Amino acid sequence: KRLVVLVSGSGTNLQALLDAIATAGTEAYGAEIVAVGADRDGIEGLARAERAGLPTFVCRVKDHPTRQEWDAALTEATAAYEPDLVVSAGFMKIVGKEFLARYGGRFVNTHPALLPSFPGAHGVRDALAYGAKVTGCTVHFVDDGVDTGPIIAQGVVEVRDEDDESALHERIKEVERRLLVDVVGRIARNGYRIEGRKVVIQ
Ligand code: GRF
Repeated sequence: KRLVVLVSGSGTNLQALLDAIATAGTEAYGAEIVAVGADRDGIEGLARAERAGLPTFVCRVKDHPTRQEWDAALTEATAAYEPDLVVSAGFMKIVGKEFLARYGGRFVNTHPALLPSFPGAHGVRDALAYGAKVTGCTVHFVDDGVDTGPIIAQGVVEVRDEDDESALHERIKEVERRLLVDVVGRIARNGYRIEGRKVVIQ
């Protein structure tokens, strides 16, 4: 399967996918990354892609007159690589109608909280502020809401009394990277169906 990975930051989830594919081999893993896209330049996520010899593209909201046109450009840039699956690995933008029309049901996101708790851009901070004793990460398909799509898998992380946002996020990301690598490989190799809210990996 062909994957396009979208990033906005440090790209450690992307790196985990790159490492897993390099270690297992494309055939055994079931997927290869064919391009990496971002909504900004100068980020470590893009540098990781370049070091791996992968094509990259950048699609910035501010370069487009409307959000809709940005969405169309992102869709076109992604579609140029003909992906079977698109993975949002810390991509901090909500995609629009056109992107979802094309990639709905095959667009996977990872979120650093146990959805449906703490959706949005500050999942780690919000869980901490709420006083949650466990949190974690969720790999899910993207729908037209914010972190509301069908859940594929979740991982649990305990909150410690001494945690601040960054310490907790680092522990979540360790679990998140393993979960994402596992889920993407399994759905690529085995196929899946989405029955309402329920995702069944075959
Ligand atoms: C992940 O925790 C992701 O869920 C969140 O941002 C982080 C991205 O990390 N939204 P990285 O760029 O993969 O290192």
